[in-house]
Amino acid sequence: MNEEQRLHNSQVNEVKKTEKDYSQYFQSVYVAPSLKDAKQRGKEEIAYHKDFTIHPEFLGMGQGRKFFIRTFGCQMNEHDTEVMAGIFLQLGYTPTQNVQEANVILLNTCAIRENAENKVFGELGHYKKIKRDNPDVLIGVCGCMSQEESVVNKILKTYNQVDMIFGTHNIHRLPHILNEAYLSKEMVIEVWSKEGDVIESLPKVRRGEIKAWVNIMYGCDKFCTYCIVPYTRGKERSRRPEDIIQEIRQLAAQGYKEVTLLGQNVNAYGKDFDDLTYRLGDLMNDLRQIDMPRIRFTTSHPRDFDDHLIEVLSKRGNLVEHIHLPVQSGSSSMLKLMARKYNREQYMELVRKIKAAIPEVALTTDIIVGFPNETDEQFEETMSLYKEVGFEHAYTYIYSPREGTPAAKMEDNVPMAVKKHRLQRLNNLVNELSAKAMHAYDGEIVEVLVEGESKKNSAVLAGYTRTSKLVNFVGTPDIIGKLVLVKITNTKTWSLEGELIEVLSGQEVGVL
Ligand code: SAH
Ligand code: SF4
Ligand code: F3S
Repeated sequence: MNEEQRLHNSQVNEVKKTEKDYSQYFQSVYVAPSLKDAKQRGKEEIAYHKDFTIHPEFLGMGQGRKFFIRTFGCQMNEHDTEVMAGIFLQLGYTPTQNVQEANVILLNTCAIRENAENKVFGELGHYKKIKRDNPDVLIGVCGCMSQEESVVNKILKTYNQVDMIFGTHNIHRLPHILNEAYLSKEMVIEVWSKEGDVIESLPKVRRGEIKAWVNIMYGCDKFCTYCIVPYTRGKERSRRPEDIIQEIRQLAAQGYKEVTLLGQNVNAYGKDFDDLTYRLGDLMNDLRQIDMPRIRFTTSHPRDFDDHLIEVLSKRGNLVEHIHLPVQSGSSSMLKLMARKYNREQYMELVRKIKAAIPEVALTTDIIVGFPNETDEQFEETMSLYKEVGFEHAYTYIYSPREGTPAAKMEDNVPMAVKKHRLQRLNNLVNELSAKAMHAYDGEIVEVLVEGESKKNSAVLAGYTRTSKLVNFVGTPDIIGKLVLVKITNTKTWSLEGELIEVLSGQEVGVL
């Protein structure tokens, strides 16, 4: 953390303490990111704030104004957008889906690969005209890209239609940042490159009424050599179990049917607690007692996936039989270069244990092809591991160097044509095994959480099985949001079709 930022943070803390002197909030803000600072890991800097409140001064700020947020990237970003929407609503803004009529436009960005960043720059380019036509509109960039120095410098240089840039640690500061942007003629930049805090009681506008996301931890300490996330999201820090349990109880009371627990590496949950020994297995065991029909989690890192968690998951009930377990490569030497901290054998042993405990489990994964030095043989090891595990789906990516990461210093020496060819072969295998997994459902009766009408045909309903398979079947809209039993009559590569058998009352959930 640089001096300016340290000073700024201490001012913020002071304001929090005195609760009366808000004058410092109105000073012009300029705190730019630093990847070097973001890399630091210490213990002392994590602050735990129980209550988030909006200063009364800001409450009418959004009267007569509309906000629009475009979200890129992972579920964590989607969920951050729900929080920002919650803050906007408390400030009196109304949401709009139409960027043309928005008074505030936010881009919640993702930095994971170069093409993710290019999409954002492309979008920003479109906003030049909007700003020209209506100079009063505020345009903001937040999310993971804003944590990168190079991005902030590029925006400063070439995208002067942007009014504010704020980081992933600054979301709760949105009211102050907006206020600054209204007052200031300069671009407002507030990006803390700190390890991060845990802030409770943030408002949220959830996107749906059936499924909800719940953060259980933030940040990542794994520092896989290719990955930018530990720099953009800070240190691994867990929410207290009682706060998570309370949030999920509330969601159950509101009628939600499924919760996905979020974290970049949920298996490290609780490792940072000094005062209690409580890990993901313990949390899942407690969540089993809650009347929430389905609980999932993402993403799990193989490294911290312990036996207790497997044992708890094998009790099933509301804990579903789907585990997303990114492997990245089937070659132990690639895994070593990636600093994944497990090898092929250890990964396979974990898969064996999970399958022994939960034979019907659906395993899905993430894979990177064309990492520096990857040979044809090493890529073949990925192909063979994929088959050996029998993954039911995968997100596959061509390696993309990220500035500031250790891998970016390695020579990106696999030619693009070879990378593309490997990706194509892998995707063919992914499709083949997905179709095979789907085919196994033929004639089976599955539990489906009905989410809405099918995108292609409004007379058809769509929902997901416990193993995250899309199911389409004929039914009436009154069963949307309910759990039903469907008999599968036809299978495709990416979806299942079936006939409605029964609407479940809620008591029988998890019996299949
Ligand atoms: N925390 C998760 C992954 C989050 S990022 C985990 O470790 O399992 C989602 C996926 O993006 C990663 O699993 C990886 O496959 C991919 N990814 C991350 N950085 C990448 C890069 N520099 N180039 C290509 N793919 C990348
Ligand atoms: Fe990135 Fe690795 Fe952390 Fe996943 S575990 S977010 S791939 S550093
Ligand atoms: Fe992207 Fe940040 Fe998520 S880099 S994948 S939005 S944590």
